[in-house]
Amino acid sequence: MELPSLGLGTMGIDDPDAIGSAIDLGYRHLDTAQIYDNESVVGDGITASGVDREELVVATKLWIDQLDDVRESTEASLDRLGLDSVELLYIHRPKGEYEPSSTLPAMESLREDGLIDAIGVSNFELPDIDRFEEVLGRPPAANQVEYHPLFQPEDRLEHAREHGYPLVSYSPLSGGEVSSVDAVVEVADRHGIAPEQASLAWLLAKGIHPIPKASSRTHQQSNWAALDVELTKEDVDAIDGVEREHELYPE
Ligand SMILES: NC(=O)c1ccc[n+]([C@@H]2O[C@H](COP(=O)([O-])OP(=O)(O)OC[C@H]3O[C@@H](n4cnc5c(N)ncnc54)[C@H](OP(=O)(O)O)[C@@H]3O)[C@@H](O)[C@H]2O)c1
Repeated sequence: MELPSLGLGTMGIDDPDAIGSAIDLGYRHLDTAQIYDNESVVGDGITASGVDREELVVATKLWIDQLDDVRESTEASLDRLGLDSVELLYIHRPKGEYEPSSTLPAMESLREDGLIDAIGVSNFELPDIDRFEEVLGRPPAANQVEYHPLFQPEDRLEHAREHGYPLVSYSPLSGGEVSSVDAVVEVADRHGIAPEQASLAWLLAKGIHPIPKASSRTHQQSNWAALDVELTKEDVDAIDGVEREHELYPE
């Protein structure tokens, strides 16, 4: 699927004005989930913004205890969002009630009925993605995984490149920790930019789609400006080489 290069993560955002501010700045990919308990906030922000619905990619995620009746659960999400359909519906984790042979055909029928445009997966390992491809006969529309300077699951990036689907990076600012990563700070200093911008520019240079969460307009604007930053190969290699590891969301 055609995903905008940079999106907005919304976990923890509880004010529709923050969604409106991001849309106003140019963000067109909004990422929410049932478990964030803010689908109505995201929906209210979209409505108030007045943006053409067709311009947006709205993504939400089915939580692991919401896979028994996928249709009912998705309809409840659409209701909270105040939308007739979403562009991307993810399975949040391959856990709990997730059973590929029943969950995936149920999601496929939502797609056929126009409630969703595409099926994405999140926190999937390679065997989970292989199983997805076996059941639906195609790769997922996107895989959303933790990916940032302190956690770089390269196997997922390679698989996405080889199979031709976008890799979406969550926690692309290491949850706000990138300003304490030496290699990132050095790259940022070389370009006269913030470490957060360096982290996003690094992901963008690798063809990954980051979804930084930012509730303030100042942070949203600064992150958006990362789209204009061009890193050198040496910069990219330097952040690729960070050895300190901190996975924020281990299984
Ligand atoms: N699929 C999954 O299992 C999963 C798991 C976790 C997250 N996610 C998604 O990924 C999104 C992003 O991940 P995340 O929220 O964990 O972490 P993140 O985007 O790496 O970091 C967010 C933190 O960085 C701060 N920040 C943002 N821009 C900044 C800037 N320019 N300068 C300084 N600080 C800045 C934010 O503060 P302010 O809010 O104050 O601006 C917030 O505290 C989530 O919102 C969610 O949509 C998905």
